[in-house]
Amino acid sequence: MRVAIEPIKRIVVRPGPPLEGTVAVAGAKNSVLKLMAATLLAEGSYRLRNVPRITDVESMADLLRAAGCTVGWSPQAASTLDIAVPAEIEPLAPYEIVEKFRASVIVLGPMLARCGEARVALPGGDDLGPRPIDMHVRGLSELGAELEVVHGNIVARASNLLGTRVLLEFPSVGATENLVMAASAAKGTTVIDNAAREPEIADLCEMLNRMGASIAGAGSPTLVIEGTGDAEALHETDHTVIGDRVEAATYLAAVGVAGGELTIVGARRDHMAMLAQKLGEMGMRVSAGADGVWAFSPGRLRSVDCSTLPYPGLATDYKPFLVTMLAVASGVGIVTENLFAGRFRYVDELRRMGADIRTDAHHAVVRGVERLSGAPVKATDIRAGAALAVAGLGAEGTTVVSDAHHVARGYEDLAGKLASVGADIRAE
Ligand code: EPU
Repeated sequence: MRVAIEPIKRIVVRPGPPLEGTVAVAGAKNSVLKLMAATLLAEGSYRLRNVPRITDVESMADLLRAAGCTVGWSPQAASTLDIAVPAEIEPLAPYEIVEKFRASVIVLGPMLARCGEARVALPGGDDLGPRPIDMHVRGLSELGAELEVVHGNIVARASNLLGTRVLLEFPSVGATENLVMAASAAKGTTVIDNAAREPEIADLCEMLNRMGASIAGAGSPTLVIEGTGDAEALHETDHTVIGDRVEAATYLAAVGVAGGELTIVGARRDHMAMLAQKLGEMGMRVSAGADGVWAFSPGRLRSVDCSTLPYPGLATDYKPFLVTMLAVASGVGIVTENLFAGRFRYVDELRRMGADIRTDAHHAVVRGVERLSGAPVKATDIRAGAALAVAGLGAEGTTVVSDAHHVARGYEDLAGKLASVGADIRAE
């Protein structure tokens, strides 16, 4: 069974009453894509639960199929993906699939560890400015691989991956993940210093450990991996994907802009503590509940300054939502982007809705206005599209977000979920 997702073209939003009720987040996009890649390490039948029905999952499923795997939704359980990995895989990631999403580079580590070689087309993905992969390449070569770029592909070879100490120049999420997967099957001990600490990395390490790997330190800046010496020593497993903290942040922003009270089931406040702290400074209340996060917004919020940083700092993925909230808050907020150079492109779209935002290189100065005005706007990437839909909740008149296929890459029915808590929003 293929992973079929309804295509959407645009999201139409009108202002409505304050939001009220319960909304559930799906499994984390940025976790499940890596968990799917991890299955390439060993033959067997895998079952992933709490998998979001989004187009990036569809693209990763296509990548696994191109390598020889069988991937499909389980007929027995909702949101469950079954993956059968054969005894021999084809260590290839073709450009036609890779160009759709940047996370595809994550198959490099597991393919190399399993097959001793891999050919992965250079990735595309969100239009977030230059996104190099030099840290992936450097780390894998420190483990003993030889890598070169040939006709737009990264071609990697390693007869033997050997554990070593790798110091990352920056705690890159993708580089950490590629290295953890390769090191799991390498010979000897690998220590990754300045590793990324995101909850999605801990989720990957947990699944790898269940596959027979030995990884300590997940969630800290130092990961210690005792390699099995051979991918053959790893095996199939089942795993439940953690909740999507960026989807949760989207609903927090929706409450911030539209007002009201929401329970976000499946979200974890401890995975978004810095964001909860910022929203508290702005006047919202965000607390941990039994099965999720409870959020309340009393009305117009206060501006704050924000600066994006690797986890546990304020995630760059939250920024379009923060900028949207600041656009209608009282006062002036300065937002600094420290991760992705091009991540202010949606600001032009917010300006078309009447936002008063000035950008200069990595900074945005956001002067809150009383009210935005609905307009036709364009999604430039997943989070930007979702943030524009959220902006529409508090804008006068109708907002139409076009190029909404970007949103479907990362959200399972964003419009439907917001409509279920009282928003006037629909996807077409
Ligand atoms: N970088 C390098 N060299 C490298 C790797 C990264 O210079 O070899 C730079 C990047 O250009 C960027 C910074 O380091 O400036 C951070 O990149 P990182 O590798 O941490 O990010 P990523 O793995 O490419 C993931 C998420 C992004 C999220 C970032 C940061 C996935 C699929 N993507 O990307 O999520 O913004 O971490 O937290 O996990 C999204 O979900 O919409 C999204 C873009």
